Amino acid sequence: MISQKPVRFFIRTFGCQMNESDSERISGMLLRAGGVGVDRPEDADLVIVNTCAVREKSEEKLFSYLGRLAGIKRNRAVRIAVVGCVAQLRGWEILEKRAAVDYVFGPDNAAALEALVQRDVTLRFVSTSWSEEWHETSPELIRRDSPVSGYVTAMEGCDNFCAYCVVPYTRGREKYRPLASILDEVRDLGRKGYLEIQLLGQNVNSYRDPYSGRPFTDLLREVASIEGPEWIRFLTSHPKNFRPEIAEAMAGIRKVCREIHLPLQSGSSAVLKKMKRGYTKEDYLDIVSRLHSLMPGISLSTDIIVGFPGETDQDFEETIEVLRTVRFSSLFSFRYSPRPMTAASKLEDAVPKELKQSRLMEVQRLQKAIQLEDHSRLVGKTMKVLGLGRGRKTPDLYSGRNEGNQVVNFRSDEDPTGRFVEVRITGFGPYSLLGEKTA
Ligand code: SAH
Ligand code: SF4
Ligand code: F3S
Repeated sequence: MISQKPVRFFIRTFGCQMNESDSERISGMLLRAGGVGVDRPEDADLVIVNTCAVREKSEEKLFSYLGRLAGIKRNRAVRIAVVGCVAQLRGWEILEKRAAVDYVFGPDNAAALEALVQRDVTLRFVSTSWSEEWHETSPELIRRDSPVSGYVTAMEGCDNFCAYCVVPYTRGREKYRPLASILDEVRDLGRKGYLEIQLLGQNVNSYRDPYSGRPFTDLLREVASIEGPEWIRFLTSHPKNFRPEIAEAMAGIRKVCREIHLPLQSGSSAVLKKMKRGYTKEDYLDIVSRLHSLMPGISLSTDIIVGFPGETDQDFEETIEVLRTVRFSSLFSFRYSPRPMTAASKLEDAVPKELKQSRLMEVQRLQKAIQLEDHSRLVGKTMKVLGLGRGRKTPDLYSGRNEGNQVVNFRSDEDPTGRFVEVRITGFGPYSLLGEKTA
């Protein structure tokens, strides 16, 4: 039965860019199926929660949000679907634990959500089967949050099995999207005036076209040849798969931003070995020097895990040293969190919570000082910024990013959204720059 009134849906997204991108696709699909998007869960008939399982805290966020939704459900009829990585990992357990949840869909099963706006599905169910094939969504159907910068998924899943990481169990094995369909999506974005493309994949450097075997560097070249988008970024790169040709290709393609996110995780080769990362501290530093020599001024960002089982004070000190040497332009740092099914979860989680916390604080203090110092040197300089919209925290300012992916909040007489502008830096904080548009 087709319902009389369109189903109102609301999507809440936790987790990484891949999840944000998946939510944009789900949203487009539900709109096409006759649903109507609303801004608050209180107004929805169907709430979709897109989830992240990467750390215990990510899962806790989901369960506390589900508590809030259960409160809404006590007052009015609303159906709740849990999708994404926790859905894949926990499956039935979510229905058992949470009476308010109606449906659970893994990342490969999101297409089935369409049925939920077309008819009243009263049965509670779980769908977490893997698919070998790439699920295409035609580009016109994606409901994108930004009119300026577009996510384009190139690959999904991960074959690396780092000892701490649950992603290979939530996103499955590596699966590559056909080059032709990636390029179709980029062309569509070009026609719509998008100026920046962000190629996504858990392990994006290992991309190869499933038909021709053409590698990641060819993907970069092909994307760069499409008219419209001026800036190309990609994430996440793995140091183990970051072959010299990739740095060379980046240097040779004008549109590829002089910026890269390259998760280090630890500065100690002994810890990296236990993490099964497949590179040493020296390998990592070699990549960094190659990037600097090919592209002087390139911005590097990274991820750090503190308190991996067995991490000694000496190991931690090595991480601190690498941070001092490389001077990352931004950094995400996490306390190690044991995850189900991972190799490290079988090791004793030996670093006490307080020590993990103090190491985390030390990383963050150091990084903040580095960023303040590096930002202070930019005052008075003028740089190219892509206008992305109004500042979220500073609504009297516009917000954008420079080529190095740093956030720049700036004054402008006219709306610069969707344009490249020149901004003169007049001030800074640890996590953003402040400026004025000059041209
Ligand atoms: N494919 C990407 C993203 C992985 S998840 C990559 O390889 O980098 C993003 C970050 O979360 C990781 O880089 C790591 O720093 C962190 N992370 C992953 N599992 C974790 C765990 N069990 N505990 C703490 N941090 C973790
Ligand atoms: Fe996880 Fe390692 Fe794969 Fe990244 S590369 S998703 S950290 S297993
Ligand atoms: Fe989280 Fe899944 Fe992304 S576990 S980091 S949402 S791939």
